[in-house]
Amino acid sequence: MKKTVLVSGGAGFIGSHVTVELAQAGYDVVIADNFSNCDRTNYDGVCRILGKKMPLVEMDFCDAKAVDKLFDDYKIDACIHFAAYKAVGESVAEPLMYYRNNLLSFINILDQAHKRGLNVLFSSSATVYGEPEHLPVTEKSPRQPATSPYGNTKQMCEDFLRDSVAAYPGVKGIALRYFNPIGAHPSALIGELPRGVPNNLVPFITQTAIGKRECLSIFGNDYPTPDGTCQRDYIDIVDLAKAHVCAVARMLDGKMKKPYEVFNVGTGRPVSVMELVTAFEKVNGLKLNYKFAPRRAGDVTAIWADPTLANEDLGWKAERSVEETLAAAWAWEKRLAGK
Ligand code: UD1
Repeated sequence: MKKTVLVSGGAGFIGSHVTVELAQAGYDVVIADNFSNCDRTNYDGVCRILGKKMPLVEMDFCDAKAVDKLFDDYKIDACIHFAAYKAVGESVAEPLMYYRNNLLSFINILDQAHKRGLNVLFSSSATVYGEPEHLPVTEKSPRQPATSPYGNTKQMCEDFLRDSVAAYPGVKGIALRYFNPIGAHPSALIGELPRGVPNNLVPFITQTAIGKRECLSIFGNDYPTPDGTCQRDYIDIVDLAKAHVCAVARMLDGKMKKPYEVFNVGTGRPVSVMELVTAFEKVNGLKLNYKFAPRRAGDVTAIWADPTLANEDLGWKAERSVEETLAAAWAWEKRLAGK
């Protein structure tokens, strides 16, 4: 019997890629999204890649009645939760909006998990580690106090899941801590669609290269790193999506070692902002207009994953090179621009 996976926020950047990988791995997937932070581009792209119209429920996960109805209408075996706001700066300006949306939506899902017995996968973030004392970070590295309401919601939702698993028999959970997801599907049919001016590095790079932005500001070149710019662990979006397939299989096949597990999803490879910019220029054969600017408030100097646990226990490993990923990001930006 085919298992059904619900993907909340399935029309977004990560959710759309996860939907494709799950469907290609043989799962039935139900997408639920309220399109509050994205349009239909990625949903349409998912349907084109998979060659069929995917089940789509337009709904808000903050609406408890709608969530209950969704679980009545579909027999869900596992749920992956992406439906949340994700802009760090905006969360500082609008904390209540972030707490209301990101926490309530997840509580409503956990209510269903409690009521019906459910496997829940939560999309967490390396932001929970703050500025780490030791690199690379393992899942045992301490979480640091969050520096934004966004980061706080990630920590709180991890705790909601951990505590629900401990309290309610039948609920199992995995939190995946993503490092920096970048890139796009090789088909260039789905990718990142930031609204307004992008906060994240790669969309800013591709928008600058296409001429939508005049110049990329590299925030800080006086960090204590080899070239003075910040280091991150950039993880390809398709590789990241595949980690979800492994995690879902682990839950559904009864392979979990504990009913609540946490995994880092990263490459284990630090890449500086400067290295990323240079790699983008080289692989795509172009020159990027950039300048050095002051440090951005709230940025950590360096963070990258120790992905050993995911490699060994999930049987997952990042495969694509930064160059391949940056070529895919550029192909997506060009397709958006009709070039
Ligand atoms: C941020 C969030 C993280 C979230 C992730 C989602 C924090 C502190 N960071 O990560 O939680 O999961 O986005 O993608 O909560 N940079 C520039 N110029 C730019 C944009 C970025 O130089 O125009 C630099 C930044 O200073 C940083 C690096 O690029 O060193 C990566 O930045 P970004 O893509 O915004 O990701 P993070 O801040 O690492």
